[in-house]
Amino acid sequence: MNQKWWHDKVAYQIYPKSFLDSNGDGIGDLRGIISKLDYLKALGVDIIWLSPIYKSPFVDQGYDISDYYAIAEEFGTMEEFDELLAEAKKRDMYIIMDLVINHCSDQHEWFQKALANPEGEYGDYFYFRKGKDGNPPSNYRSYFGGNCWEPVPGTDLYYFHMFAKEQPDLNWENPRLRQELYNMVNWWLEKGLAGFRIDAIINIKKNLDFPDFEPDGPDGLAGCWKMVESVDGVGEFLQDLKRNTFQKHDAFTVAEVFNMKEGELPAFIGEDGHFSTIFDFSAHCLSDGAHGWYDAPPIDFKAWRKAIMDSQLEVQECGFEANIIENHDEPRGVSRFLPEYARTAAGTKMLGTVSLLLRGIPFIYQGQEIGMQNSVWNSIEEYDDISTKDQYHVAREAGLTDAEALTVCGRMSRDNARTPVQWNGQANAGFTTGTPWLKVNPNYTAINAESQEQDPDSVLNYYRRLVATRKSAEYKEVFTYGKFVPSYTDTETVMAYYREDEQKQVLVAANFGEETVTLKLDHPVKRILLSNQNTTEIPAQLLNLKSCEVIVLECADHM
Ligand code: GLC
Ligand code: CA
Repeated sequence: MNQKWWHDKVAYQIYPKSFLDSNGDGIGDLRGIISKLDYLKALGVDIIWLSPIYKSPFVDQGYDISDYYAIAEEFGTMEEFDELLAEAKKRDMYIIMDLVINHCSDQHEWFQKALANPEGEYGDYFYFRKGKDGNPPSNYRSYFGGNCWEPVPGTDLYYFHMFAKEQPDLNWENPRLRQELYNMVNWWLEKGLAGFRIDAIINIKKNLDFPDFEPDGPDGLAGCWKMVESVDGVGEFLQDLKRNTFQKHDAFTVAEVFNMKEGELPAFIGEDGHFSTIFDFSAHCLSDGAHGWYDAPPIDFKAWRKAIMDSQLEVQECGFEANIIENHDEPRGVSRFLPEYARTAAGTKMLGTVSLLLRGIPFIYQGQEIGMQNSVWNSIEEYDDISTKDQYHVAREAGLTDAEALTVCGRMSRDNARTPVQWNGQANAGFTTGTPWLKVNPNYTAINAESQEQDPDSVLNYYRRLVATRKSAEYKEVFTYGKFVPSYTDTETVMAYYREDEQKQVLVAANFGEETVTLKLDHPVKRILLSNQNTTEIPAQLLNLKSCEVIVLECADHM
């Protein structure tokens, strides 16, 4: 495998709106980010992914872009963005931005021109179709609810949107549109961006016949992802995109890809793949409900362990994936993947360790490094997220009471990850001096960065040691390129694996159970690299792991 500049890097996702507000308007901003670069550097972060900061009406929190060449006023100015790039560079850090090119905002100039004249040049930047006997052209349900086809007032036409109706899908079949997007991507890369996180990219290929599918819900519609799964040919678009943009700049790209087809992984992340890497969502997909959040199954430990291990084994045959515990679309991992007894500092460190030492590029989501958890929500009005509002209605339609539907949203809502970062124990967790745009998690007095700074045993200081271990001169090679080998898979509660190459063999072992377990070691131990119990005594043949204990050991007899 050819080595790439990004293989050994650690990444961090910033959701700018909730990161840090510098001017008291309740909204996080670029100045806030700049002021925390040293904090991120101390954590060991190399690559920073910024969720969208482009000009936007914020119907879907910036994933609806109305000008790809402008910074949203809420976040700051282009000068401040340039300053951020320069300050990151000074610290040997890289900035990547979100690239949202499956759709734009309905306020984008292209769409406004298209609406004014659907038959004209810009009409062909989107999908306009005639209805069928007074009905929309097909029966697809958008990801945020309702039909994917929105009527154009005063005409017999509809336009297509897989997300909100304010996010019309761009017509990738049109070469002029593609060229506009490539120009824009290159413009940012020439500015000094290191690459992109690429949004909803599998969705760019449509079946131009837009056939109906068997309805799968009481609304008579079928999930639009069914069309995505049934159409071939996205690879040609993706190669064209790569050759005209990323490849010329040796950019790092990480794509959000769901619904990939069997056997397609090498085409996406192999040597000449469409992207550098893609996110591994295999554990997250375990809680996909058949009809929505209300029937989302709880996480079963063994299924979770298997999902991660299967994915690691498959991926190492062809490339690297990006490993996450959570992101801005998912509830907090501590609240989701850990049983109640494990939602402690020890459990949080354990989850972080088994995830960050996997083979692949770790992405830490803001607040994960201090162990932020799901928030407390008392009514549907407290939420901002468009998807949460939709899922609340889906649950109510399915017969759940208000209280039951709120419990469902409390468990699954994307807003759990979007509450302001808890910087200290002062008002609004130190996020803003004004009124935060989204309610702060009430647990900020117990969980915040400032108090953890002081405590050598805190989640934050543990995360620093964890990242440092992964990147240390001595172990970097094995944690980056070493093989992933599952271990102790016959146990009920242990998640364990080896990372090994010709020089080194490291065992990562964690007990997710409530009782102590004893494992028979297969190799003598040379050194303890990390322990969330501060264990210093090298285990002999037997390894005792208390509930929520994790240990990282170097084996002695290797090679
Ligand atoms: C991706 C984003 C999500 C957004 C959607 C539409 O899934 O991560 O936040 O709502 O795309 O752009
Ligand atoms: Ca602000």
